[in-house]
Amino acid sequence: MLQKPRGTRDFLPDEMEFRREIEQRLRYAAQNWGYREVCTPTFETQELFTIRSGEGIIKEMYAFEDKGGRKLALRPEGTAPVLRMYVNEAQVLAKPIRWFYFADCYRYERPQKGRYRQFWQFGTELIGADTAAADAEIILLAENLLQKSGVEFEMHVGHLAPMKHLIRDLEPGEQKAAMAFLDKHDIEGLKKCREEQGNESLIEPLSSLLECRTLDEVFEATGDLPEKERMQQMIAILDAQGLSYTLDMGIVRGLDYYTGMVFEAFAHNLGAENQILGGGAYRLAHLFGGDDVASCGFGLGFDRVMASLGKPQKARSGVVAVVYTPEAQTRAFEVARIFREAGIMTELNLLERGIGAQMKHAGRSADLAVVIGKRECEAGTVTLKDLAKGTQEEVTPEEAVAGVKRLGAC
Ligand code: HAM
Repeated sequence: MLQKPRGTRDFLPDEMEFRREIEQRLRYAAQNWGYREVCTPTFETQELFTIRSGEGIIKEMYAFEDKGGRKLALRPEGTAPVLRMYVNEAQVLAKPIRWFYFADCYRYERPQKGRYRQFWQFGTELIGADTAAADAEIILLAENLLQKSGVEFEMHVGHLAPMKHLIRDLEPGEQKAAMAFLDKHDIEGLKKCREEQGNESLIEPLSSLLECRTLDEVFEATGDLPEKERMQQMIAILDAQGLSYTLDMGIVRGLDYYTGMVFEAFAHNLGAENQILGGGAYRLAHLFGGDDVASCGFGLGFDRVMASLGKPQKARSGVVAVVYTPEAQTRAFEVARIFREAGIMTELNLLERGIGAQMKHAGRSADLAVVIGKRECEAGTVTLKDLAKGTQEEVTPEEAVAGVKRLGAC
């Protein structure tokens, strides 16, 4: 038996319908904030992703050469493609630009629970507003989307400036290593790493930065920073809007394009891969030949949100099965059309089997059956049967439609 590729998944109808329902809620919520949907290609030039992150990222991507020898990659995320599209198509648009996307992304990672090689992101990008209000809007939008999805979560809000300030004198390689430990809140690892590097001076200030839960504590640890006022303004907006969050100066984010505010959300009921959303402020457009526009946004990990929500909550309902004898087939197709045009989900028997077998099948997949035999065919009627109650009545198709609607079955 052939199997699907490693790190990918199939979705059966119950799960797919649940995914679509949540996707629709996210779309509706984003549109409600004035965000409009965009779509970019599934594959891009490799350069789009290496230009910021270096050639090292190629081993983490589905990178390939096409028949024309072009170096391409399946998109590992949505931000670089969307900013490339902004540079190509939309630099003249009035700012700020509010866009969202729902896209499958591909990463060549070691698959595990909640970590896939193909996964879906619901992302937003707010382009051209370099203000505390813009940073705050993106965080509040993320909160709103997660709330609308029904997931239970915890939000962590941070900023890269305090940590970058503390490690400013380290070599770039040392900075990267220190930030990776801080991202995991792994102080022991940081200690070991700094001891090996023969410099333990930063361990204490960095570990106490992770403990800071107010901006006052942060600036006590770092001294005044140029970003201070912007951070205060953003936090004041979030507090005034009643956002529930933890101030967390340990957020580093894996992608290396962030420049200021960074934030992440976590679900309680997932295992190690419990980060359901991540984002921040960044600058990318200038790397792609555009203006040096400030942007911010986030990617919501749709598969993790769905995993956190659990099994689909409601079964399919409101289906009418059309059951008929061989001479009534043409009429059965006609009646099915009348039902569908009235917006009723209608399944027509397709197999050559008796009424008994058709009714048995209908009992498994439908709430109501419409039976059409020789008599109904001649009289222009149908027999509408309630499969749960076992009651039935012979009526015209139009009366049957009205009856189905009255029952609220569709
Ligand atoms: P990211 O943190 O790499 O950010 O991904 C966003 C979310 O996608 C993660 O929080 C996680 O929930 C989900 N995710 C990431 N990798 C996987 C995977 N292998 N399997 C399942 N889910 C995964 C970005 O991609 C940025 N583009 C976000 C952004 C938008 N920043 C600014 N604008």
